Amino acid sequence: MTFELVTKAGATKAELYSSLADQLRSLLEGERDVVANMANFASLLFYSLPDLNWTGFYLLKERQLVLGPFQGKPACIRIPVGEGVCGTAAARRETILVQNVHEFPGHIACDSASNSEIVVPIVAGEELIGVLDLDSPLLSRFDEDDAKGLNELIKIFIAATDLGQAGKHHD
Ligand code: SME
Repeated sequence: MTFELVTKAGATKAELYSSLADQLRSLLEGERDVVANMANFASLLFYSLPDLNWTGFYLLKERQLVLGPFQGKPACIRIPVGEGVCGTAAARRETILVQNVHEFPGHIACDSASNSEIVVPIVAGEELIGVLDLDSPLLSRFDEDDAKGLNELIKIFIAATDLGQAGKHHD
């Protein structure tokens, strides 16, 4: 398989996310494995969206978010639901936009380069699967357009992927 990233200089955020939606559909076509699809989804975002220093997934396993496929520096492995930005997004099942992570109570600093963050919960049907987390070295890097665009991409990911075993515990 070969896959060429499409990047358009001067594109609006809406155009960028529309192009990413097409690229994600194509990237996930014919593959339903959750780890493989999360890995390629994380890479697509990391190399397509500007000003990111970390992009990846945490998977819900027994009330904890456990590190999944990502791009960026090594990160915190386990985050209890309710803690940090990721755990708050998971507990509320809401997208959380943080303009300045240093002002977010309980923020968990994995990479000291991070200054703003967006976390989007992944909910398939009624089931919380995990979260998608994007970090930026810029303050106020993310806005409502990013929240909308990322939620659309997550819908594509959910439809394309077998999530049955994603959050299950294995002995
Ligand atoms: N900052 C996150 C932790 C995960 S890392 O950013 C990769 C948080 O507060 O939940």
